[in-house]
Amino acid sequence: MTDFAQDVLGPVVTDFAAMDQYIKTGIHSKIPLVLSVSQYVVEAGGKRMRPLMCLLSARACLADQPEAERALPQSVIALSAIIEMLHTATLVHDDVVDESGLRRGRPTANANWNNQTAVLVGDFLIARSFDLLVEIGSMPLLKDFASGTCEIAEGEVLQLQHQHNPDSTEADYLQIIHGKTSRLFQLAAEGGAIVTDAVHYRQALRDFAGHFGNAFQIVDDILDYTSDAETLGKNIGDDLMEGKPTLPLISALRLTTGESHQLIRKSIQTGGTDNLETIIGLVHSSGALDYCRQRVAEETRAAIHSLKSLPESRYRAGLQALAEMAESRLT
Ligand code: IPE
Ligand code: IPE
Ligand code: MG
Ligand code: MG
Repeated sequence: MTDFAQDVLGPVVTDFAAMDQYIKTGIHSKIPLVLSVSQYVVEAGGKRMRPLMCLLSARACLADQPEAERALPQSVIALSAIIEMLHTATLVHDDVVDESGLRRGRPTANANWNNQTAVLVGDFLIARSFDLLVEIGSMPLLKDFASGTCEIAEGEVLQLQHQHNPDSTEADYLQIIHGKTSRLFQLAAEGGAIVTDAVHYRQALRDFAGHFGNAFQIVDDILDYTSDAETLGKNIGDDLMEGKPTLPLISALRLTTGESHQLIRKSIQTGGTDNLETIIGLVHSSGALDYCRQRVAEETRAAIHSLKSLPESRYRAGLQALAEMAESRLT
């Protein structure tokens, strides 16, 4: 069994505390409303998976160098904090788009203030992230983040286009989640290689994070049908409410016929939670969840396999443990 505190956080516990501190000081604005909304969303917590991935990746890249512990550039701390700010900004926007009311166990920014405020403060957080990124002074890093952030936005727009479309395929879904989720994980992991000048490990970490992100999002989409608000800190059933053809529904459509099949199609088309209980039942009984879990296992295995070209270290083991932990959220 993976032990989060020991296996994942343990190797980077000091860096993690510095990252948390950097987030607190990094967010400042002369406009009090901008400051209070930003602090509200960022300090609400969250699992901090992306900064952890960034810190572990950076240290994993340095593991075959002598004196690696002392050689960690300060920019890694800044980078991991920036990634969390960027991530939080995308969540603030996502909750407006998804009309979600609960996030990280608290009312969302759109619920607590309003949509306008949430959109604009989300913009601020993205801009502020880039402001801080410029200070690191690495053009390759800036380039990666600039184009990666475009792809994240594209992923969310693509998802919007597929909303209410029961003919969406698994390939469509994979393209969407690569953009909206996996791409940011890639920025986190690859960023760790860029700031440590470990160009030769960039591809391995990018592959790892790509597969990890896919697994992570499929897990999130499963939990939207199987978990509860208290555990997740966000409401379940939101995806069906919005008519989102996520993998549980796409595979349930493939595995059903007749009335059940038509009900799922109709629910995607109309959205709403009138049929939530029945759809949850179908997602279970059709074997759709089993298929989703199998896909999670495949993506997790592929992620871990990608780590093989990195030198063995407790940081590399930490990345592996992070992937195993993400998978074990299902059990
Ligand atoms: C939520 O990400 C968005 C998805 C990609 C599913 P997290 O589940 O990492 O959210 P926090 O940061 O822990 O709140
Ligand atoms: C996550 O998408 C948002 C981004 C990755 C930008 P979802 O809508 O699937 O995530 P939750 O369920 O709201 O966290
Ligand atoms: Mg959402
Ligand atoms: Mg979700």
